[in-house]
Amino acid sequence: MAYGNGDVKGSGYKTEGLEQFLIWVREDIAGEIDAIDNYQYHIDSIDIPEIKEILSHIRDEEKEHLAELTNLLRRFDTVQNLKFKDDNFAEGTKSEEASGGFTVGNA
Ligand SMILES: [Fe+2]
Repeated sequence: MAYGNGDVKGSGYKTEGLEQFLIWVREDIAGEIDAIDNYQYHIDSIDIPEIKEILSHIRDEEKEHLAELTNLLRRFDTVQNLKFKDDNFAEGTKSEEASGGFTVGNA
């Protein structure tokens, strides 16, 4: 199994093809999650409504990217797709009541 950028120094081994693509997609997913958390931190740290609104819009675009990349991973990583389908805890979208009234974002 390979991780990172696919080049294991000194090993002469280089990941190629679909597995390399899947590594990049996973790295991109991590980047989108990082971006979402950073925007949320900045939104929570500023009191100027106009800036909050713009940053919230950008954060939600990052969430869209995260969904697109996750769907890409599901399409091309058959094991990952099975793991999503086998999630015994997934019951669909939680209602506001089920999540204790706690919500994030503007959905
Ligand atoms: Fe993004």
